[in-house]
Amino acid sequence: MKYAVITGISEGLGFDTARFLLESGIQLFGISRTNQEALYDIGQENNVDYIHYSCDLSVAQEVNKTTNKLLDELDKLDENDQLFLVNNAAVIHPIKKSTTISQEELAYHYQVNVLSPMNLMNQLLRKCCEKHISFVGVNVTSGAAINPLFGWSTYCSAKASMNMYTKTIALEQDELKTGNKIIAFNPGVMDTKMQEIIRSSDKKDFLQVEQFKQYKNQGVLSLTESVAGVLIDIMTDEANIINGDIYDIKDYT
Ligand SMILES: NC(=O)c1ccc[n+]([C@@H]2O[C@H](COP(=O)([O-])OP(=O)(O)OC[C@H]3O[C@@H](n4cnc5c(N)ncnc54)[C@H](OP(=O)(O)O)[C@@H]3O)[C@@H](O)[C@H]2O)c1
Repeated sequence: MKYAVITGISEGLGFDTARFLLESGIQLFGISRTNQEALYDIGQENNVDYIHYSCDLSVAQEVNKTTNKLLDELDKLDENDQLFLVNNAAVIHPIKKSTTISQEELAYHYQVNVLSPMNLMNQLLRKCCEKHISFVGVNVTSGAAINPLFGWSTYCSAKASMNMYTKTIALEQDELKTGNKIIAFNPGVMDTKMQEIIRSSDKKDFLQVEQFKQYKNQGVLSLTESVAGVLIDIMTDEANIINGDIYDIKDYT
């Protein structure tokens, strides 16, 4: 059977990706602080289970607890099964000049955007390797990983770090000839709460805020359901996934 774990399922890209996976008959474990009742209904309509883990990815102990519950679930699977992991949850703040960012703000951001997704992927992949469960992992990245923006030093560096993590863990799996695939996926600018937060920035903190307001006014922001559709097509076409690649929505529109 096919199973998937997705972080950040309560809204935005994570919600639509979760919805489509359930609709395609994949058993789903969702992680976020807020539960999404609709996913239980979608699961029921498609005869698949939806299990939600309420977890704050900024708190390492909560992440460890949730990871252990998932590892227990993986213990029930065998080599005929397959696991997808989508590290989707992320935060954008702090948006401000690097010199004004506190250690606490940095630590929070890196815990949510880097340490928790890396830890989750490392642990789940280890178990899949031990049990010969086929693994496909996706780290949702951003154009900000390669394009610096004034006020975004934390987010840009965190996403860049996830890109290099993706390439490195994929290289290890290639060398070990496991057949497991790990990629990053840049969804481009989407009409979500993250963009609302970006638009509410003060110009002194984010010099390009007007440009992001224009994206909304000019209808440039993508709908998450169309982006989720592309992501699902890429990640479920296992045979053709290029291990370690940084996929970009621009190549699919
Ligand atoms: N939106 C864009 O334009 C854009 C562009 C490029 C890349 N991306 C990337 O695409 C991904 C999805 O973005 P989005 O715009 O869909 O985000 P979003 O609408 O802001 O949703 C973020 C999701 O992450 C979860 N989350 C945030 N903090 C969390 C925490 N501490 N613990 C657990 N879950 C947490 C939220 O759930 P709870 O609040 O319920 O916990 C929510 O489900 C992110 O990786 C983002 O960096 C977005």
